[in-house]
Amino acid sequence: MLRITFNGHANFLLENGEYSILIDPWFTGNPTAKANPMDYEQIDVILVTHGHGDHLGDAIEISKKYMAPIVAPFELAGFCQRRGAHVIPMNHGGQRITECGRVKMTNAIHSSAFIGKGAEYTGNPCGFIIDFGGQRIYFAGDTALFGDMKLIGELESPDIAILPIGDNFTMGAKDAAKAVEFIAPKHVIPMHYATFEVLDQSPDAFIEAIAHLDVEPVILEVGQSHEFGG
Ligand code: NI
Ligand code: MN
Repeated sequence: MLRITFNGHANFLLENGEYSILIDPWFTGNPTAKANPMDYEQIDVILVTHGHGDHLGDAIEISKKYMAPIVAPFELAGFCQRRGAHVIPMNHGGQRITECGRVKMTNAIHSSAFIGKGAEYTGNPCGFIIDFGGQRIYFAGDTALFGDMKLIGELESPDIAILPIGDNFTMGAKDAAKAVEFIAPKHVIPMHYATFEVLDQSPDAFIEAIAHLDVEPVILEVGQSHEFGG
């Protein structure tokens, strides 16, 4: 069993009944997030795709509270470790068997820095392949469309793809639909829309753009969960 809960923007909770994984856990300042990250019973692993505030979010505090490692690109993991977090540094193309199962780091075409007083370098942005709850999930992170998504589809055959669709900072509806064609998942969950004014405000154009493909769109309201598999 895999339960996926949407916490708004790119923030997702994955549960299999035994373990819990948080991805891009932006709660504080997220205009849509309703959950309090300090209220969970347990968090076992945290995945962070890049250093932008809307993805790193509360990861460091969550890591400290739950003693949960942050899986992140090497430089971003170092950034988190220097602030007291537990970390699993990785880099693109590598995989690792974590407490929660296999995690593989994929490419993403985007940028990555932590913008505080200055801009601190946090490595290259990434996506993840996650084997969890009997499903294979491809979490693309913030990214443009790229042709090697075809390879991800071919080599990993993800059951579920979680893709940004909001445009401006990432793929928009049309490019995300091409990504679905490349990856060929059974289910697709759109993310990274309707949070900021410059992003697309609904998934309608994306749903229309994938209507001809053999894929089930799973549209989650903030706070809503969906269960996959038996
Ligand atoms: Ni970003
Ligand atoms: Mn973002």
